[in-house]
Amino acid sequence: MDKKQRKVVIVGDGSVGSSFAFSLIQNCALDELVIVDLVKEHAEGDVKDLEDVAAFTNATKIHTGEYADAHDADIVIITAGVPRKPGESRLDLINRNTKILESIVKPVVASGFNGCFIVSSNPVDILTSMTQRLSGFPRNRVIGTGTSLDTARLRVALAQKLNVPTTAVDAAVLGEHGDSSIVNFDEIMINDQPLAEVTTVDDQFKAEIEQAVRGKGGQIIKQKGATFYGVAVSLMQICRAILNDENAELIVSAALSGQYGINDLYLGSPAIINRNGLQKVIEADLSDDERARMQHFAAKMLAMLNAA
Ligand code: LAC
Repeated sequence: MDKKQRKVVIVGDGSVGSSFAFSLIQNCALDELVIVDLVKEHAEGDVKDLEDVAAFTNATKIHTGEYADAHDADIVIITAGVPRKPGESRLDLINRNTKILESIVKPVVASGFNGCFIVSSNPVDILTSMTQRLSGFPRNRVIGTGTSLDTARLRVALAQKLNVPTTAVDAAVLGEHGDSSIVNFDEIMINDQPLAEVTTVDDQFKAEIEQAVRGKGGQIIKQKGATFYGVAVSLMQICRAILNDENAELIVSAALSGQYGINDLYLGSPAIINRNGLQKVIEADLSDDERARMQHFAAKMLAMLNAA
């Protein structure tokens, strides 16, 4: 039997970090969970609160810690960063969050950490790309949450519009987790039937669905200050796929090397996730126009990344 301890370190105990911890200990067998945050008092409180959850679910040992605790961890989750304020775009955060990222990745790598990084801080595609560059880790061992949340929002929007359960909707959002995300309408299936056979997919329909996907995060931020449950479960799924060696096909921010005609940038795409991290990018079918749009925005993001 594999005696290896299963250990996860969370950096950033804000709403996303603590919601992720809450989801993880309910959905994944774990030996040790370490919470690292500058605000020690709050993290200590969260540890106490989460210990009670672990007593209901599994025997995970939970404690606060330092970057050095990453030395024997399987996964380091980075949720730290300044979140968006109402009206801000994710790309507005780049300079502030780049500095925070540097202060995290360097000491984690210096600890001897040899597992996978998973990043959810925004702008997630750029910060995941930067985590890989700063760490020098192989690209398969750095993954971002990408358009997983946009994909969840797409499935919700279609389910509500067509009055079917979300489980009936097979659909994906690709590219940037943000305002240039791509919904590849041609591939959407509703109850195993192409979307176009279920409803009229005209420009108005597309615009309405895209607006629901892109606008939802901002709407939630306006109403309750932050979004966290959706991305927390996305982090949990990626983490569980790694720890349980699931070979799960998930939408993540993946290092692209030629897929979609894009190189040297992380963007949302389906990929196979297992104990090696990202095993393989599954290139989705895009129309020529969608591919051109993805490449256009990728070039802009790459320029921002290189300038940051
Ligand atoms: C959102 C944040 C996590 O879209 O970017 O909810």
